[in-house]
Amino acid sequence: MFLKESRTGFEEILLKYLYKDPKPLTGTELKALASNVARLSNLLTRERETLPVAYLEDEGLRRAYALYFLPSNLYKIHTPLHELSLHPSSLLSKQRLRILDIGSGPGTAILGVMDFFSAHEKRPTLEFTAIDQVKENLRDSEALFGLFRERVSMAATLKTIKSSMEMVSSFPKGPYDIIVLSNILNEVAHPVEDRTSRRVAILKTVLSDLLAADGSCIIIEPALRQTSREMLEVRDGLLDEGFCIYSPCLMGEKCPVLLNPKDWCHEDIPWEFPEMIREVDGLTGLRKDSLKFSYLVIRKDGLSIKDIYGDSSFRVVSESLVSKGKIEFYVCGKEGRRMVTRLDKDKTIKNKAFEDIRRGDIVGFEGVMDEGKRLKVGKETNVVCCQRR
Ligand SMILES: C[S@@+](CC[C@H](N)C(=O)[O-])C[C@H]1O[C@@H](n2cnc3c(N)ncnc32)[C@H](O)[C@@H]1O
Repeated sequence: MFLKESRTGFEEILLKYLYKDPKPLTGTELKALASNVARLSNLLTRERETLPVAYLEDEGLRRAYALYFLPSNLYKIHTPLHELSLHPSSLLSKQRLRILDIGSGPGTAILGVMDFFSAHEKRPTLEFTAIDQVKENLRDSEALFGLFRERVSMAATLKTIKSSMEMVSSFPKGPYDIIVLSNILNEVAHPVEDRTSRRVAILKTVLSDLLAADGSCIIIEPALRQTSREMLEVRDGLLDEGFCIYSPCLMGEKCPVLLNPKDWCHEDIPWEFPEMIREVDGLTGLRKDSLKFSYLVIRKDGLSIKDIYGDSSFRVVSESLVSKGKIEFYVCGKEGRRMVTRLDKDKTIKNKAFEDIRRGDIVGFEGVMDEGKRLKVGKETNVVCCQRR
């Protein structure tokens, strides 16, 4: 998948709203932005443990979030939505979709959902509800929603509610077809000791009370090892509570990544990034040249992405590991996380697709050899890429 920012002229909308002018930033404005981006990036990474609760009340940080983090975060929701759209049960084909975005910030995921459906021939009416504990975020989300809706001509409404995620009883009643938590889970019950059980308990209430029986909950988290692993702990907790994983997992058991403290699971998708982000990267030394994130789609009805590709398919969960005489990948399937290897001398027409597979693809190996520690693709193994990222 290759995402193109310029398709919706989104940078122009942000500049128009935040600087009242769609022209590129001056050198001074760019330097001020870069300094706030660096401050925010530190808070969200190195200084995470001391992240203040309402850090986006700070105007400089809010502007940095909208101009630097929002444009990339916006596209991350395309991946789970695309995977939902592939299921034979037409999971996204209702005429009206009710969507709850918890921890909406400036409305990132809402804009991402509108952008996703704007490229579809059959466009549903989208009814959004945004929840955030910072009122300035809700104000920004309303303004950006209005400008973006006009740009993509979608039939959509937005209701905003200032509330903490823990106050589920104050949310407008569901049922919602889609509930989104984009980059908020790691901020909930943070830095409490038993944060996983707290997060599972809150999510259990949200999903039980508000998610439709045929609805999907999409969780997106940063691709950092700690935040990604904590999301997987919540995944396992929700399985224990009777919820099911639609994707990315092709297995419904406990996550094998948690067995090794060094492992985590994330996406890394190329995108064509806006010039402004390139300039900020140049000034800060940060790099936003691909979309890195972890995600989960949770449902109540047991439907899964594996219904499409079968029980013996695998998700590619690493980059290609190329060494002398072989290519290897980590893949995850019904028996957990495995290494799969093809020796260069075993390359044939049948397994040629092996060298083209990428992180996030879903693949099948007919006639693969199980050597216990690893799977081995031999000359006669048929390698099929079922779903490309
Ligand atoms: C990193 S921002 C993510 C914003 C947006 N969803 C995105 O993906 O770009 C996290 C947001 O969650 C909100 N938030 C954090 N903890 C919250 C809580 N307990 N209840 C409600 N909102 C919360 C913050 O105010 C902030 O707007």
